[in-house]
Amino acid sequence: MVHGGAGALDNVSDDKTAVRYLESIRNTLEHGREILRLGGSALQAVEACASLLEDDPVFNAGCGSVLNEDGKVEMDAAIMDGRDLSAGAVAGVSNIANPVQLARLVMSESEHVLLIAEGAMRFADHCGMQHVPEHYFYTPDRVEQLKQARLRHKVMLDHDDTEADSEDQKYGTIGAIARDPQGNLAAATSTGGVVNKRMGRVGDSPIVGAGVYADNETCAVSATGYGEDFMRTVISKTISDFMFMQGLPAVEATAAGIEYLTRKVGGRGGVIVIDKDGSCASGFTTKKMIHGWIEHGGETVVRF
Ligand code: GLY
Repeated sequence: MVHGGAGALDNVSDDKTAVRYLESIRNTLEHGREILRLGGSALQAVEACASLLEDDPVFNAGCGSVLNEDGKVEMDAAIMDGRDLSAGAVAGVSNIANPVQLARLVMSESEHVLLIAEGAMRFADHCGMQHVPEHYFYTPDRVEQLKQARLRHKVMLDHDDTEADSEDQKYGTIGAIARDPQGNLAAATSTGGVVNKRMGRVGDSPIVGAGVYADNETCAVSATGYGEDFMRTVISKTISDFMFMQGLPAVEATAAGIEYLTRKVGGRGGVIVIDKDGSCASGFTTKKMIHGWIEHGGETVVRF
């Protein structure tokens, strides 16, 4: 399963931008299918799929990341392996084309789970990861989006429900989750965060249990939306706990998680979930969420 963000998306439901999103989601799913068909692991599939989405400027991650209050890019990403709960994450990084790959290196090449800002960049250098220049991230859309957010004196979700007429609705945080034929689960989430966020603000995406979670005994989860809501409800781990403690399958556990998110904090956003048996589910409190899935190796489905 992959997602490309949650929100209103009213202005893209019938035009060629919508087709562009859906094609990107479909191509990413097919890429993941091929990796698994060739014997790749769930972890390899989610890293590759998340990287593809980071490379697509229509999504709010990697090259399409939104801008903070200083007009800068600060990205967050995480990856998790359900085999042993190993995880890697980075927060507040810039000049990196694929933060999810840096997160993977944190997991495999360091004894830590989360590295931030300058320290994460130093680690990227240590691993020989190339820097990309600032202009790699600056699109006219992103600059305009920040201008609008500043005029409104607020931070905005990449697909903000509350600004139905605004162009900024057509961008999305990204995530990928997978189960391989061996039954291993993995999850990855990557984002530029929310528009006009404070310098140093970190969202849910790099926080294990909030924006990302994978445990072979329960499920893989990736979240998208207002990170503050997901951190407060530890939404991804909460969904996993519904499975572990109540034995709920994907659809029921996801519904229970979304009910909890809504009831406790009025949370805005959504999740994609694959359970240990390979069943897929999604849930969101926004009008829409761009996402897609291939369940049990079947047909590829993409949805707004
Ligand atoms: N869910 C992305 C963020 O809040 O940063």
